[in-house]
Amino acid sequence: MALFMIGIGLNDEKDITVKGLELVKSADIVYLESYTSTLNVPISNLEEFYGKKVILADREIVENGVDKILEEASSKNVAFLVIGDVFSATTHAGMLMDAKEKGVSVEIVHNTSILNVVTETGLFLYQFGKITSIPFNYSDVKVPVDVFNDNYEKGYHTLFLFDLNPSEKKFLKVSEVSKYLILKGISGDLICVGCARMGGVDQEIKVSKLKDFVDFRFEKTPQCLIIPGKMHFLEEEFLERFK
Ligand SMILES: C[S@@+](CC[C@H](N)C(=O)[O-])C[C@H]1O[C@@H](n2cnc3c(N)ncnc32)[C@H](O)[C@@H]1O
Repeated sequence: MALFMIGIGLNDEKDITVKGLELVKSADIVYLESYTSTLNVPISNLEEFYGKKVILADREIVENGVDKILEEASSKNVAFLVIGDVFSATTHAGMLMDAKEKGVSVEIVHNTSILNVVTETGLFLYQFGKITSIPFNYSDVKVPVDVFNDNYEKGYHTLFLFDLNPSEKKFLKVSEVSKYLILKGISGDLICVGCARMGGVDQEIKVSKLKDFVDFRFEKTPQCLIIPGKMHFLEEEFLERFK
């Protein structure tokens, strides 16, 4: 009996690791946390590939139903799947702590995350500063701009993650976020990197000035935005490919 906390990667049913798949196959109950990210395939693909029924766990189930999941994990094997890596969204650290406190045994399997896949842009992970998130109701929110200013002053790159609500197919887009950042005083002339549906064969990366993103539409979601800080010449050379 245990709780298996398993990252399943960013794209489709086959991004799970061999270790993760073995644990899913041995699980009595399989949950998929479905509100902090989204895959490029329907849940039925996961169910077919794993040979298991997958229960969608929305915010309500995860935040108010942790006790139930941990209770189940004290007498059964319960797999809790997270898109990307398990702990790249802050949300799931609480579940791990609760499990430890209740004496539930936990096995963790990591996977790739948006936090490291952004390196496909050519920007060095070591040069990123604090990450910041932009909520749907951003009009009175200043924190992302403060985080950017602080990072930029130190020469660090800033990764902006966006709010999303996959069950209602609602996703903040690079165009809307660019408009917000300019309105809050960030220069529209800064070179930025927009990313959409990273980790899939149809991922999109575009380098442009912030102001040019206001009217630019990526085909896919989810999306995120990077404003590079001080760049090594190799990073600059790499970004040229996406102009
Ligand atoms: C809470 S984070 C997801 C964390 C996830 N557990 C992980 O490890 O990737 C969700 C936000 O990250 C960004 N994101 C997630 N997956 C993405 C992808 N494949 N391409 C572009 N942005 C992505 C979007 O801004 C999205 O709204």
